[in-house]
Amino acid sequence: MSKEYSEEELSQLPFRDESLKLEGRVSDLLSRLTLEEKFKLCSGRQMWHTKPIKRLGIKSFTMYDGPHGVRPDMMGEIKSTYFPSAICRAATWDPKLSYEFGKAVAEEVREVGAHMLLAPGINIQRSPMNGRTFEYQTEDPYLNKVLAVATVKGIQDHKIAACVKHFACNNQETDRFTCSSEVSERALQEIYLPAFKATVQEADAWSFMTCYNKVNGIYGSENYNLLRERLMQNWGFRGFTVSDWNATAYTTTEGCVNAGLSLEMPTAKKFSKKNLNKAFQEGKFTEEILDDNIKRLLRVMFLVGLFDDKSTLPRGYRNTREHQAISRKIAEDGIVLLKNKKALLPLNIDDLNKIAVIGPNSNFKLIEGEKVGRNEVLSGGGSSNNFPPFEITPLDGLRQKCKDRVEIIETPSNADVTILFTGLNHELGKDAEGEDKHDFELPLEQIELIKSTIKQNPNTIVVLINGSPIAMNGWIDSVPSVIEAWYGGMEAGKAIANVLFGDVNPSGKLPITFPRKLSDSPAHMSERTYPGVEKEVHYDEGIYVGYRHFDKEQIEPLFPFGYGLSYTKFKYENLKLDKEKISKNDTINVSFDIINIGGRSGMEIIQLYVQDIESSADRPPKELKRFEKVKLEPNERKTVELNLNFSDFSFYDDSTHCWIVEPGVFNIFLGSSSRDIRLKGKLEFHG
Ligand code: BGC
Repeated sequence: MSKEYSEEELSQLPFRDESLKLEGRVSDLLSRLTLEEKFKLCSGRQMWHTKPIKRLGIKSFTMYDGPHGVRPDMMGEIKSTYFPSAICRAATWDPKLSYEFGKAVAEEVREVGAHMLLAPGINIQRSPMNGRTFEYQTEDPYLNKVLAVATVKGIQDHKIAACVKHFACNNQETDRFTCSSEVSERALQEIYLPAFKATVQEADAWSFMTCYNKVNGIYGSENYNLLRERLMQNWGFRGFTVSDWNATAYTTTEGCVNAGLSLEMPTAKKFSKKNLNKAFQEGKFTEEILDDNIKRLLRVMFLVGLFDDKSTLPRGYRNTREHQAISRKIAEDGIVLLKNKKALLPLNIDDLNKIAVIGPNSNFKLIEGEKVGRNEVLSGGGSSNNFPPFEITPLDGLRQKCKDRVEIIETPSNADVTILFTGLNHELGKDAEGEDKHDFELPLEQIELIKSTIKQNPNTIVVLINGSPIAMNGWIDSVPSVIEAWYGGMEAGKAIANVLFGDVNPSGKLPITFPRKLSDSPAHMSERTYPGVEKEVHYDEGIYVGYRHFDKEQIEPLFPFGYGLSYTKFKYENLKLDKEKISKNDTINVSFDIINIGGRSGMEIIQLYVQDIESSADRPPKELKRFEKVKLEPNERKTVELNLNFSDFSFYDDSTHCWIVEPGVFNIFLGSSSRDIRLKGKLEFHG
């Protein structure tokens, strides 16, 4: 019989003693759990909660979606800040903003009484057709890693657990419950896993969510190699794993327990008491293994303060002006100016009498879908949906900006300038969870609208509201100015108006290549590579994801990775490397000057790429290794210094199963995009 405790007795138990070390508290609590109680902790009670164990005062641990703000209830009764999509945040290339986002959203999680946020989603953007591209950050493993680490730190510094998802290779929605991502070890090591690993080793991520799909034939939730070996043994993860919602459907109980799955969500299936008991009695897993899984969950319960006096925990805040300002700042800094041919932008408010504001996305509320209960419109695209207290549409933002100064009309032919808002939304088949995109082009009627508008008014600016690359064939050449504004959260309209009128000089850069046509994209080489044949998706492109492929095959993209214009211009000069030859353990200092040679203050995102000139292995022509965002006033010059380590020149060697650097010469490229290299240097590595 397990012992019953009074409240008083419970509060005296060692695990309740806040002055004791974490591991001591975890072990003490674990030692008091019966086998049945352990089983109980292995699965959720409902959508968002674990089961409480009243006898020991273990409250239910609560987790909510998602990547763009906390959503505590599906009906939208509880409002919270709606932040820009992850792809927009990534386009800022600003880890500080990712940290700020993490901190703000954690404050909201705390305020609604929860303990974990089901975010960030950091799967690599392999195909532009993935319905969840908007929820993920980038195609590049280094940018992915820097932003993921900052986000997790921001969340967890507030004693809220981040849940890094979806581990791993959940790179498409088509057949997501059944397909297997067939991926080489080198591609895993160099492309798909680095950001996951860094969130463990550099940010101590407290939770990982397993993927729906299989990886090399084994489902994420029972993938011993991914969970037990890599994540826990190799990377040193001390947190717990949770299944994606119902991701255990085709797994076995013992497979999941042995692999290291701590928590099955949303409710018990493979981890029901009956199934766990049966597998245990049949000797399919040991109590020791189960204990490790439980210990991990308990550890995070302690880390978020589940047993601590509430007054000792950080305070929660929700829907504050500060959070809204962070949301707007991310939206502003994530906007990418794609084209500005006649220098139509920025608009000068004093020169304008009338502007036409038109297009399906000019006044479309992204949050509206769920509110009106239409299933076909998933507000926020599925688990990323949010219910903010308000949403400023582009038209709202422009109305505020133009109030009493410029008339807003709907007829392009009568306007000085037309602003045409096109793009996608979160309907299934567009940028949404559950299905991949149906089209790579904009909807036909929008293309027609762009063409007819340009005829009526050549001064037309196209603003895209979407979350993934689209083709722009047939219209891009005739439009003078194009802006990629993404899904910019609840303050998007203000951010867009600020960029259009020059209050904010755009500085965002694409975190993903925009191909001219889908067949240029490495994931779309054949049916094998996308959407897969017989439920196997073969990642035949290997490490050549995104710009690595476009560079290797010398394909001209529509807009390259790292690209984005500004209202000012920057000059790069004076490249200096502090060493010409390096050996192991050396740090190389790369310095150069950057000057704002235009007439406006602005920010430039400088990108450093490395190339191994000669290698025994096939290597990409360019790999991003550092970046820096610099703010400069007109004529201002700054010296930027970036340090590289030996490991920045390495690759994963399939034959030795190690990361190695081969002796030889390496190029160092500094650029304004992956295709706009301004400075080049060389250095030699001797082993
Ligand atoms: C999604 C996850 C999400 C979970 C809970 C799943 O369908 O893939 O990203 O966190 O649902 O809503």
